[in-house]
This record gives sequence, C-alpha cells and structure tokens, in this order.
Amino acid sequence: MYNFEENIYQSETIRDIRTAIYQGPGYFVIKDFLPKQAVKKIQQRWLSGEVDYYFDRFHKNTAVNFHTPNYLIKGANAGDRSYCINIWNQAPDDELHDIAIEANKIRNIVEGRPRYFATRNCDELVLQYRLSRTVSPGFAVKKHADFFEEFRPDPAGNHAFDPKRCQLTLFLSDYGKDYHQGGFHFVNNAGQELLFGRDVAVAAGDLVIWKYSNIHCVREVTALNDKTGFSRIIFPQFDNMAKDKLKEGAR
Ligand SMILES: [Fe+2]
Repeated sequence: MYNFEENIYQSETIRDIRTAIYQGPGYFVIKDFLPKQAVKKIQQRWLSGEVDYYFDRFHKNTAVNFHTPNYLIKGANAGDRSYCINIWNQAPDDELHDIAIEANKIRNIVEGRPRYFATRNCDELVLQYRLSRTVSPGFAVKKHADFFEEFRPDPAGNHAFDPKRCQLTLFLSDYGKDYHQGGFHFVNNAGQELLFGRDVAVAAGDLVIWKYSNIHCVREVTALNDKTGFSRIIFPQFDNMAKDKLKEGAR
C-alpha cells in the first residue's frame, strides 16, 4: 500500500505548512509526494483513453449522492477529461485510491480535522477525487474562489464561508515539457497572480496544498504532449452527503 513518509506529520512541519498557507503566500509545495515512477504508471493507466467506457455520463455537483457512480466530464476539446471518482464506490485503481487518501490525510491535519476525515460516508464532508487532463486553450476552469463570500454556481454543497479550507493539486505533468503558456493560475495572499510551473517551481509528482478561498482558474493551456497535456488530481469534498445519510436512516 502506498504510504507517504510520516515525517510530514511532525508538528514543526505542519506548523510551517499552516504558516505558508494562512500567513505566507497561500500555498505550500510538498516536493516528490509521488515518485516519478508512480506518476508514469498512473499516466499510462489513465491517459490512454481506454478507461472512458467504465465511467458514467456527467453528473452535476448538486446532484451527487451515495448512489452516484464514478463519472466522466468531457471538456471543450476532445482531449479534455475529468475522471470523477467517488470515495464511496469500489476503487477503479487501488494505487490511485491510496494516494488520494494519503493526500487527503495531509489536508485534514493542516485544517485541524481527524486524519481520516471525509473518507467515511458518515463524515460531514465526503471526498471525491478527480483526475483531470486539459489540452485545450481558453478557460477550462473559470476564475473563482471557494468558501469565500461570493456566489459560486454548482458548488459541492452549501459553500458556506470557511477560510480555513484548503484544496490540493497533485501535479501529473511538467510545465515546459507536457504543456506551457497556461495552466493553474492562483492569486496569492498578496494579490499577485501566479502560474504554477512557470512562477512557482512544481514538477510532476509534487502535491500543492493551497488556500481554497483564494481566486484560481485553469486557462490558456497549450499542450506540448497531447497524451499528458496539463494533468493533475484535485480533491473536492461534498457536504450535502451526511444529510442524505440521515434521511436514509430515518426511513
Ligand atoms: Fe475551485
């Protein structure tokens, strides 16, 4: 089973990560979270186009519940893909599943939550992970902030203001090698817009933990390699799930 080195949980490390996110630039890069060999294996398994058949059609965030199968979001371009994998379904890829849980554990500790929070159906938030590939220019994800005091269409729950919340981006491709010109743009705590890969050193296998209430988007990607393009995994959580569970229990 995949297991990231435990020293990430040392209190000094967690303090440094929290300081960077909440008082520093708004993000922290965990270098080599995933070994290059593991990145390569995931690319081979997931970016060949052979897995599409196993995924259901698109589901809106607001319609997701414990009966929702894993589903595929196709983007503007034929090569744009988001494979949405719900933690409550049977894992289509055990290694990927373990990696998602490990990444989510780090976020939990940073946010001050129990280590396995959001991986159990009874939790207030429940995890989905999305393996996305963008190969087309334009806006793949429009500029927005999450858990901030502004309207957010189709959130994964009520989207109440919560500035402690973080999102994770696990990079699966390299800026300058697989894609360039655009990608993941993030407005840091000083209000400067950064393009990860160009303005912040990140490579395939790095896990970025960033403050969810900062403005972010994915745009202007030019793929240098159509198979990988800008590939990454993100880790949304759904907060309308526990209510469904309660309702089911009351029947
Ligand atoms: Fe977002």
